[in-house]
Amino acid sequence: MSSEDGEEVFDVLSEGEEVFAPPESFKEQANAGAELYEIENYQEYWAKEAEKLDWFEKWDQTLRWEPPFAQWFVGGKINASYNCLDRHLDSFRKNKAALIWEGEPGDERVLTYNDLHRKVCKFATVLKNQGVQKGDIVTIYLPMIPEAVIAMLACARIGAPHSVVFAGFGPGSLAQRIENADSSFLITADGYYRRGRLIHHKNKSDQALEQTDKVEQCVVVERCGLDVTMNRDRDYWWKDLMSEVKCETPAVKLDSEDLLFLMYTSGTTGKPKGVVHTIGGYMTHVTSTSKYVFDLKEDDTYWCSADVGWITGHSYIVYGILSNGATAVMYEGAPDYPDNNRTWEIIEKYGVNIFYTAPTAIRSFMKHGKKYPQSHNLNSLRLLGSVGEPINPKVWKWYHKNVGNENCPIVDTWWQTETGGIMLSPLPGVIKTRPGSVTRPLPGISAEVLDEEGEPADSGYLAITKPWPGMLRTVYQNDERYKKTYWSKWDDETYFPADGAKIDEDGYFWILGRIDDVINVSGHRLSTMEIESSLVSHSDVAEAAVVGGSDDLKGQVPVAYVMLQEEAENDKLNNGEDEELDFFNADLEEELKDYVAEDIGAIARPRDVTFVPDLPKTRSGKIMRRLLQDITEEEELSDTTTLKNPEIAEKIQDIYC
Ligand code: PRX
Repeated sequence: MSSEDGEEVFDVLSEGEEVFAPPESFKEQANAGAELYEIENYQEYWAKEAEKLDWFEKWDQTLRWEPPFAQWFVGGKINASYNCLDRHLDSFRKNKAALIWEGEPGDERVLTYNDLHRKVCKFATVLKNQGVQKGDIVTIYLPMIPEAVIAMLACARIGAPHSVVFAGFGPGSLAQRIENADSSFLITADGYYRRGRLIHHKNKSDQALEQTDKVEQCVVVERCGLDVTMNRDRDYWWKDLMSEVKCETPAVKLDSEDLLFLMYTSGTTGKPKGVVHTIGGYMTHVTSTSKYVFDLKEDDTYWCSADVGWITGHSYIVYGILSNGATAVMYEGAPDYPDNNRTWEIIEKYGVNIFYTAPTAIRSFMKHGKKYPQSHNLNSLRLLGSVGEPINPKVWKWYHKNVGNENCPIVDTWWQTETGGIMLSPLPGVIKTRPGSVTRPLPGISAEVLDEEGEPADSGYLAITKPWPGMLRTVYQNDERYKKTYWSKWDDETYFPADGAKIDEDGYFWILGRIDDVINVSGHRLSTMEIESSLVSHSDVAEAAVVGGSDDLKGQVPVAYVMLQEEAENDKLNNGEDEELDFFNADLEEELKDYVAEDIGAIARPRDVTFVPDLPKTRSGKIMRRLLQDITEEEELSDTTTLKNPEIAEKIQDIYC
């Protein structure tokens, strides 16, 4: 694939020869120094970083490690909302912009730290008045509007953990998360704008609430003035509740290990797991890494284009950025709406200094061509970041040249929902970068590349070999799954992230992507099993297998192989002839794609749905997804001898092609 400027966009991830040294001018002013790579005692290092936060009471023990369970800053008392807001109010930051928000239609709101504090205190009062208590899990299903941040910080203020569900997820995903978290309080919105369309968000919430009866109260933010149905016994308008209360709820003194939030993420089973993050360690990790990795300075304007509904938004739009007292840009809509200038217009208009985005977005910028960034003044930029998937060296270089004007260090940051914050990334101004490599573990983080047996290897699996403060504490109400998923590949002291990795002779790490049944669609993590479960819940479907197909722009896309129920097969695939089934039905294919998109969300929509007479299975009945992957990628079929039904692979190949 090539862009309209004629540049080749994609090639295989190669190690590349080039080395990029940080510009001298950047080096001189960088927050990080070379001494950070010399840390001898990781616990002392993190304790020093933790001291930069405001604690009501200091901890007695930095780390209590009972593998694989960790507690950080044991005995310390802290509040995340206080650290993001109150502590800035005694200085000039009081009237500094905390959030600069832009809606897709072009409307703007600027909230200073004082404004944000007032709104958060008020909404915290609302939560209390409505009966939310410490420990109650509040589900937040909001689009990219300031109320999402206000709601999160209000929950944090009173010790009610939040579970934010990405607004792009469908009713099925929302209901599943509400059920698992046993959450009786939901915050949603009437609608929002996306690519010029008005999305009826309240309808999606209502559909979810038909699938679960857990929710007793639902607060609705008015974003678009949509006419929505309000259930009188359950639904309240945000603005009505806010108009009745005063700004009077102080930040509660919470335990360092109290729950801050749950974030559901896809694993290798059909059910997403509730990743548990607690206050003290998480806040230490994200505050410290924001400062060093993004080189945050007092007068910076920082823009992370992720959604607050993902971990990137939690850590690097909200908690890590606001605790540093920085100014964050938040944008509601699509990066290319109404045209390909939008992203660059935002950078130019607000004088963005630090821009953090995903390779999938950069690939799409590249496809449209350099004329768009080049026709804007992007001189304010001084640092660029990348997250969510491996960045191809060519894409890295395009970003460096055409967005960064060869003058901005790029931080390619590896981390996960489970790690809470960035784990491997260049320290900008300190380390030389190589396109495609995340360079080295950050200070205080111990990572290695290990083989199957747990021995150090040049190529194998990424492993984290010491606990770190932002680490997940468990899987919500499922310690067994926590142990099994993350701490049993080698031993219970070595964390297994399920990413392949290489390490080169300079000790630089190269992340190769997931090695499990998780696929990465536009930097969003999806489980193939989750999509399979959704397909199987359709009345016509008997069995389904989903694999990731390569896609130039999105990285990967779901590709589904579906066996129909016998009746549906006879009715819908026989094409009027009783004998031979025709494994093609365009209407049903579309119906199933829409079904998944509505159930889970648009990102899960399969690119192809292929009807098959059977699925390749091992003798023990396990679906051999590897074979389906070969078929999808049009590669030679791997070994079929262990199959119970070896003839099926070629048959599916014929149907797919
Ligand atoms: O495969 C890795 C990939 O994204 C996964 C984590 O996804 P999620 O929990 O949704 O968090 C995404 C944002 C932090 C990882 O297991 N990944 C993330 N960052 C990178 C990456 N792969 C390569 N390079 C990265 N910089």
